[in-house]
Amino acid sequence: MEPSLRGAVVVRSYLGPNDERSLADDVLDGLTRPLKELPPKHLYDARGSELFDAICELPEYYQTRTERLILETFADDVVARTGAAELVELGSGSATKTRVLLDAMAGAGTLERYVPVDVSESTVHAVAEMLSEEYAGLSVHGVVGDFERHLSHLPAPPGPRLVAFLGGTIGNFPPGSRRRFLRGLAKVLGDGGHVLLGTDLVKDPRVIEAAYDDGAGVTAEFNRNVLHVVNRELGADFDVDAFEHVAFYDRRREWIEMRLRALDVQHVRVEALDLDVDFAAREELRTEISAKFTRERLEGDLAAAGLALVELYTDPDELFAVSLARRR
Ligand SMILES: C[S@@+](CC[C@H](N)C(=O)[O-])C[C@H]1O[C@@H](n2cnc3c(N)ncnc32)[C@H](O)[C@@H]1O
Repeated sequence: MEPSLRGAVVVRSYLGPNDERSLADDVLDGLTRPLKELPPKHLYDARGSELFDAICELPEYYQTRTERLILETFADDVVARTGAAELVELGSGSATKTRVLLDAMAGAGTLERYVPVDVSESTVHAVAEMLSEEYAGLSVHGVVGDFERHLSHLPAPPGPRLVAFLGGTIGNFPPGSRRRFLRGLAKVLGDGGHVLLGTDLVKDPRVIEAAYDDGAGVTAEFNRNVLHVVNRELGADFDVDAFEHVAFYDRRREWIEMRLRALDVQHVRVEALDLDVDFAAREELRTEISAKFTRERLEGDLAAAGLALVELYTDPDELFAVSLARRR
């Protein structure tokens, strides 16, 4: 019961030797496909998390400041509707927007516990320490883990639970897995629990493409970082500088893709897997998709997961949306 004690801070890690397997399996599976692909979670080692924070500050990356504005405008309403005592945050990263929700919960006198969940161990530890210092009496139960596999390790909620999944990260799932993931998420809401989902909205493709291909090249460095991760963790010999960053909006699917394009023919050895991978000149490796949403897409996904939209909050320019939903 220690995580429920007022002011207690614990961090539990569920990433172990098997999770090196997860990178190994993803590399083996993804680099031997006709369209080479790696899941975006491997972008976020400590360096990748720092680079993502830098992306959030870029002028082109409208998502972070817009989502923050929406939260600042509507956080009190979210808390009034949910009575949340616990905030679980999936893919919490450095939790910059989290304080807006915690402040509203503290203001309403409901705040008891914060549960950050992220694959990036360094950020979970940093956030757990920082927020427990900032909010007197707040219990923090950090979970270092994969939100696709470790949600069963969430502690029992001390009261009404609010699960926040911000930053548009839900868009990284392809449509089928997205609904499967949301169904799993619905199961951990508990009685009277709610989910708060941040999603980027469909808009002028030029605005979206600029957000994933900034002038300062930070997103390019973030994207290439996944090759450093594979080199370090699996003894591979990617020539990282021989790949260029590509971001394009797929108008039919309404998602943006990040890819890495080999500038020339490349032979890569992945020592830990005894694997040789060849890239043709200009061959691409897909590293992320980020789906953009309409109200209809959101309602369809939520309904398929047994969830009902309670409120859809957006900004005046309708760039981004934050949806509050509960189990039907
Ligand atoms: C797009 S960032 C969003 C960060 C923050 N929530 C925000 O809104 O700025 C995605 C975050 O999710 C984490 N993440 C990605 N895939 C994950 C997974 N499968 N399990 C747990 N965390 C994951 C990353 O480490 C990163 O912190």
